[in-house]
Amino acid sequence: MVAEQEKLTLHNESRQGEAFAGSTTDNQLFTKKFYIESYGCAMNFSDSEIVASILNEHGFGSTKIVEEANLILLNTCSIREKAEATIRKRLTEFKKIKKANPGTVVGVLGCMAERLKASLLEQEKLVDLVVGPDAYRTLPALIEETNGGHKAVNVLLSREETYADISPVRLNSNGINAFVSIMRGCNNMCSFCVVPFTRGRERSRDNVSIVQECQQLFNDGYREVTLLGQNVDSYYYTHPTTNQSVNFAQLLEQVAQIAPGLRVRFSTSHPKDITDDVLFTMRKYNNICKYIHLPVQSGSTRVLQLMNRTYTREWYMKKVERIYEIMPECSISADIIAGFCTETEEDHADTLSIMQSSRYDYSYMFYYSERPGTLAAKRYTDDVPLETKKRRLAEIIEVQNKLSQESNKRDIGKIFEVLIEGDSKRSSEQWAGRTSQNKVMVFDKANFTASKGSYVLVKAINYTQGTIMGEMVEVLNY
Ligand code: SAH
Ligand code: SF4
Ligand code: F3S
Repeated sequence: MVAEQEKLTLHNESRQGEAFAGSTTDNQLFTKKFYIESYGCAMNFSDSEIVASILNEHGFGSTKIVEEANLILLNTCSIREKAEATIRKRLTEFKKIKKANPGTVVGVLGCMAERLKASLLEQEKLVDLVVGPDAYRTLPALIEETNGGHKAVNVLLSREETYADISPVRLNSNGINAFVSIMRGCNNMCSFCVVPFTRGRERSRDNVSIVQECQQLFNDGYREVTLLGQNVDSYYYTHPTTNQSVNFAQLLEQVAQIAPGLRVRFSTSHPKDITDDVLFTMRKYNNICKYIHLPVQSGSTRVLQLMNRTYTREWYMKKVERIYEIMPECSISADIIAGFCTETEEDHADTLSIMQSSRYDYSYMFYYSERPGTLAAKRYTDDVPLETKKRRLAEIIEVQNKLSQESNKRDIGKIFEVLIEGDSKRSSEQWAGRTSQNKVMVFDKANFTASKGSYVLVKAINYTQGTIMGEMVEVLNY
């Protein structure tokens, strides 16, 4: 299962409504305050940092106290029905605040804003502002428009916007890990997925601005960057004047070369796009983490075809074998959907068996939720009963729990390089950090002089479900 214990997850679209604020010293400079909650995938969390930067420039400081905000923003997710229901419920909770302070502006950002557009204003009467993921630069003007009780909407999608020139304001950061967005949108049209509609066409960000941002993060003391995109392996940037192009493997190499002490992660990879070049680049650099999130969705070729995933069961299995061949120590995780349209017990058994053969270290598992407007909603009937979906999901989770346990068991006795991210939740006498394989390790500080941001060698001794308990062996000098 997902490593929940220490909550150091990098890819988890079920993260719910975390409120974020920047540093308090910065915030004293501002007279107006915004409060932002982010839902959904890492991309949304990263976008909230871009929004914070835009708002800072226009006189708004961030606050974690919703009651003192002049502007309340929810950065929303539409991926499953449940995600939207959570947000609708959250919106109703702001009624009281609005009653006490009628001047407060409530805004919906992100994928739900894009999917529902102006209709959101009718459905949710207390919303004043609806802004889609490509329209954040217009936020200040839209906020102005809401003065005097008007409503404002901008949900235009763009083919170019990458916010490349905006330096994100790191919200609630631990000062060690940061997300860096490298591309936006998705051209894949998986039949179940709403993302191509909410995020628009794929576009890649200028590699120079990406490398600069990562270098700056390193200079500021950050030690790990996660390159983000819906489909990072199809990153492809052509410089408008020189016409020179950079693909994902090359970008990865450029970021890895910034410093051996800057770890590089990335998410998400579509199995069809991850190349040998990327795998060899990963192998070449110790600081590129040996972890790939490789969503499978289903183990049945027939279902994969209906999903429009463009690979077969066998093709996916070969890709996984190739990863282990090139990097035997690499960990792999997946996204899995239970109960897609027409899925039979045999199809489901194929999913369970591909999980076994892939030896996933963990997975993000969901049951199918029909999304209006998607290809699947138009073409197929959502015909697997909810009870069956839930039972199949439970079976998938059970298999994953066993696989995760086996994976943890295999680690015992081995020594891992861990980047310390802070004190463990349980004790200030212990550090918590992650291995290159993205597993959380907790270990006594003992007599070593390590600190947050140090790289250390840790021997795995024991494990609980989401955490490996270890013993520090050595502090590394990067
Ligand atoms: N771009 C990423 C995934 C983004 S959505 C990729 O292609 O890998 C994250 C995950 O949510 C998907 O991988 C899928 O497993 C799940 N998901 C997407 N749409 C869904 C739906 N309609 N019902 C259930 N799960 C869904
Ligand atoms: Fe959705 Fe598929 Fe694009 Fe991922 S690759 S965002 S699942 S359409
Ligand atoms: Fe959700 Fe949009 Fe991300 S639908 S998963 S927030 S791209």
